Amino acid sequence: MKKSIRNIAILGILFTFPLFSYGQSQTQSSINSNMGKVPEVTLSNGVKMPILGFGTLNLRGAVGEASVAEAISVGFRLFDTATRYGNEEAVGKGIKKSGIAREELFITTKIWVDDTGYENTKTTFNRSLNKLGLEYIDLYLIHRPRGDIRGTWKAMEELYEAGKIRAIGVSNFNPQQLAELMSYAKIKPMVNQIEVNPYFQQKEEQEAIEKLGIQVEAWSPFAQGRKGLFTNPILVAIGKKYNKSAAQVTLRWLIQRGIVAIPRTAERAHMLENIDIFDFELDAADMQQISSLDLKESQFPEWN
Ligand SMILES: NC(=O)c1ccc[n+]([C@@H]2O[C@H](COP(=O)([O-])OP(=O)(O)OC[C@H]3O[C@@H](n4cnc5c(N)ncnc54)[C@H](OP(=O)(O)O)[C@@H]3O)[C@@H](O)[C@H]2O)c1
Repeated sequence: MKKSIRNIAILGILFTFPLFSYGQSQTQSSINSNMGKVPEVTLSNGVKMPILGFGTLNLRGAVGEASVAEAISVGFRLFDTATRYGNEEAVGKGIKKSGIAREELFITTKIWVDDTGYENTKTTFNRSLNKLGLEYIDLYLIHRPRGDIRGTWKAMEELYEAGKIRAIGVSNFNPQQLAELMSYAKIKPMVNQIEVNPYFQQKEEQEAIEKLGIQVEAWSPFAQGRKGLFTNPILVAIGKKYNKSAAQVTLRWLIQRGIVAIPRTAERAHMLENIDIFDFELDAADMQQISSLDLKESQFPEWN
């Protein structure tokens, strides 16, 4: 019930204010005037999270720093990193370079399998804060359901209660693993970041996760372009109707399902394209056609 109300709220935002213009002239600083262009979802603890963000896998060093700063200038506010990506420092530098106010951003990082455990989590979390140059994290996730999840979760709950993290969650947890975590959790996870793209649509998984009051976030929304996603005839044909690309159709399809998406790109033109998805709406027939692309299997079997 709660979830359906939230979905209605998301769709209400998307469809009531569909005509955002990213190219319009800006009177305030280019950073601040971009605020409010990406609709938000509300997590179970009331924290608001942009429905579209920016992935940073493989964006390290100078490229990572420049990409993050560029993405902020384009209007992205949610950034997804992880200790595993080896780029928290670069992401932090990109944020600093942009000059944006901290409270305008929504920063996610994740704890890797090897760092789990009560004490390790606290140490690793503080290291992440230092690398990012931040005082708090908006969303902290357990990267994979392996290692000492119980000890890690307890440490995360304490960091949350101490105000160092605004929302806590997990990644790559199936509903059974979520249920197990929730059997002992004092604070339940607010987000589960999982693979969702047109070739792996995860509809039943989404339903099961949302039933628990948890927000779904999609990693690899483009399946990294595997299986010709950017030239997929169905996505391209749908896009033609709205003068949009297959990438834009894919992102729109995700947000219309109420799923947060975090596409990654190092190209400014792609950043502009990926954020320009709030001025059109896929209809039921489009959504149905995209459903037919579901191969019902991960596009990254090598990661499992
Ligand atoms: N929790 C997890 O286990 C997990 C796993 C994987 C990923 N993630 C997160 O999810 C994020 C996104 O996933 P991903 O990085 O694997 O891949 P992705 O976002 O599915 O795809 C990235 C690829 O798409 C290309 N691209 C982006 N926008 C495009 C556009 N408009 N037109 C054409 N090509 C475009 C990029 O190339 P260009 O740079 O040339 O644009 C890049 O090669 C990651 O960066 C990471 O933050 C999390």
